[in-house]
Amino acid sequence: MPISRRTLLKGSTLAAAAYGTGLALPLVRRALAGAPAELIAYEGSARLSGDAATMRTMSYRQGEAGDGVPPVLRMRKGEEFAARFINELKEPTTVHWHGMRIANAMDGVPELTQGYVYPGDSFDYRFTPPDAGTFWYHPHCNTLEQIGRGLTGMIVVENPEDPVFDAEIVLNLRDWRLGGDGQFIDQFKPRDAARGGTYGTVRTTNWLQAPVYDAPAGGLVRVRIAATDVTRIYRLALQGGAAKVVALDGNPLEAPFPLDLYDVGPGQRIDLVLRMPDGEGEIVTLGNVKGSTPWTVASFRAVGSSLKRELGDVAALPANPVAVADLKSAEIIPMEFTATAEHGAKPSICGSLGYTFWAINRVAWPGDASDPVAPLAELKLGKSYIFRMANRTPHAHPIHLHGMSFRAVASNQPRLLGHPTDTILLEPDETADLALVADNPGAWVFHCHIIEHQKTGMTSYVRVT
Ligand code: C2O
Ligand code: CU
Repeated sequence: MPISRRTLLKGSTLAAAAYGTGLALPLVRRALAGAPAELIAYEGSARLSGDAATMRTMSYRQGEAGDGVPPVLRMRKGEEFAARFINELKEPTTVHWHGMRIANAMDGVPELTQGYVYPGDSFDYRFTPPDAGTFWYHPHCNTLEQIGRGLTGMIVVENPEDPVFDAEIVLNLRDWRLGGDGQFIDQFKPRDAARGGTYGTVRTTNWLQAPVYDAPAGGLVRVRIAATDVTRIYRLALQGGAAKVVALDGNPLEAPFPLDLYDVGPGQRIDLVLRMPDGEGEIVTLGNVKGSTPWTVASFRAVGSSLKRELGDVAALPANPVAVADLKSAEIIPMEFTATAEHGAKPSICGSLGYTFWAINRVAWPGDASDPVAPLAELKLGKSYIFRMANRTPHAHPIHLHGMSFRAVASNQPRLLGHPTDTILLEPDETADLALVADNPGAWVFHCHIIEHQKTGMTSYVRVT
């Protein structure tokens, strides 16, 4: 669907990068023509807070000049995507395509699925997205530092069967740990890593503080949101307008529901269809209402005369082909998430935080290392499994599985059941059963997406053969 120029934020170079005709679409076209497009990781600077540019940011770009925020990659369900990834950073990295059920060799986990992409080297990523929806991409090496400095980009996988909306706006939500001079400070504090994680000091959407986007008055706008921050769990709410939640974590909801308050943890996505107000200049605000002081994530300003659309007309989007587990034959695999006092952190090419605070089934992940680490479970290709998750900590953990989607089928806490996802925000003391069909062969990591937790032990993997 052509993106309406109305969604452009006037005067913003960011909006031009994300929604203009310049960067995102040609990547898909070149990919289809057979020649891989380029995706380059580079170090730069950006204006994120106040007057001073922040130095040593990290981002992705697709051509000569970067625009700060990583480009939105547009792909199409069932069509091959290819990109030559080039590392212009001063350290090794890889690219992981969060939520995408693609071949293991393309999953971007060093030591487990591919080698490090060293400075100056490249790696050809090539895969066909089986699912449409909102996804994102990020490194899986020295992750706290690299994501913390900017390496989180959005992916839109289009479905030609999706209904056409009046506009589309993509929002990449994340914080930055900057000092008063606008420069990076330490990415974490050990005492916070052992709790809920260390928060950033500057909050942005598409690398802007509380940006305002124009959209057609009275129109229906698809808003694709990803929480790509290393720590923050957002509680999103709207003011001045109404929206329906149509997809969660890339997967369409069978029954879209009105957005009231919704928690979105690191790694998760939420797609809204927003009904813009009728009056020119009227504003809808998307806010984070977690904590005592709500703040604005982004605003939407109505422009033009009203299109007079009906939110009630918004129906379910076409579903993704995620296999349904057979609960009767499913084998149960217990997974217990705990704090630990054991110290097993090893130095690693992809960076170690030097601490071990967390464990899965009492084992703390030692770090990305070439010494073989046993998988938590061996799964048989095509068989159904239930991961019986137990969060034995007083903190929420967004647990993410690579390569396969699962459905929560039971929980001791109220939650949406039966919806396919790749990241579940496990609440404090929650126990939940996650059902899946092991239909993608390979070694698939799963970990908490609070990156300090991931990097201080809360990581493991399963192997499907
Ligand atoms: Cu979003 Cu293992 O990652
Ligand atoms: Cu966690």
